[in-house]
Amino acid sequence: MQPVGHDTQSIITEVIRSRRSIKPFDMDASRAVDKSLILELLENANHAPTHGLTEPWRFHLFTGDSRRTLAETMARLYRETTPEAEFREDKMRKMSENPLLAGAVIVLGMARRGGAKIPELEEIEAVACAVQNLALSVTASGLAGYWSSPPLVYTRQFADWLGLGPEDRCLGLFYLGWPKAGFTMPKASRKPVAEKITWH
Ligand SMILES: Cc1cc2nc3c(=O)[nH]c(=O)nc-3n(C[C@H](O)[C@H](O)[C@H](O)COP(=O)(O)O)c2cc1C
Repeated sequence: MQPVGHDTQSIITEVIRSRRSIKPFDMDASRAVDKSLILELLENANHAPTHGLTEPWRFHLFTGDSRRTLAETMARLYRETTPEAEFREDKMRKMSENPLLAGAVIVLGMARRGGAKIPELEEIEAVACAVQNLALSVTASGLAGYWSSPPLVYTRQFADWLGLGPEDRCLGLFYLGWPKAGFTMPKASRKPVAEKITWH
């Protein structure tokens, strides 16, 4: 492959550095995201690296009325699975409101297909790569997106409700929507990369 040109490189840099987590509160609840656009974003996600070509990413799409079913289910399972001492009414309310603020909720699944050859960790990593492809494509499209992982998503009850296999896992929810009019992107803040590099 030819090296990408200078223009492409700077576009990629701009997309990567301007990607931000934008929560459902800042999404325009009245604006749906077209199915064709969602499919285009997921096509990019589908190009993630994958050890052994197991392609473990699975996307459970909730749009339109099915967002309400998701919201109601999360609230119910949160009540059922949370020990009383940890239960918080505000968290339950958020779970039942957030899906309806987003144009779509993509529930992120990991389908375990690698057997003994591919460690589970690598299947989870591959899904994370796919989600990053998704997040960058979301940014490039002017959309808002956010990976959310309340403890509920890791419960067997939620996995069963989604119909996941016994070795599969849910890795979270990706909220997707158009940003509200007038929304301004927050600036990123990261500690210098030099602190995270060891030259040998
Ligand atoms: C695997 C994963 C799970 C996350 N889960 C949550 C979450 O449950 N709640 C939350 O507020 N943010 C969550 N985030 C988003 C982070 O809070 C966010 O990336 C971080 O604040 C940095 O902001 P930025 O994405 O805008 O750079 C998650 C991010 C990742 C990668």
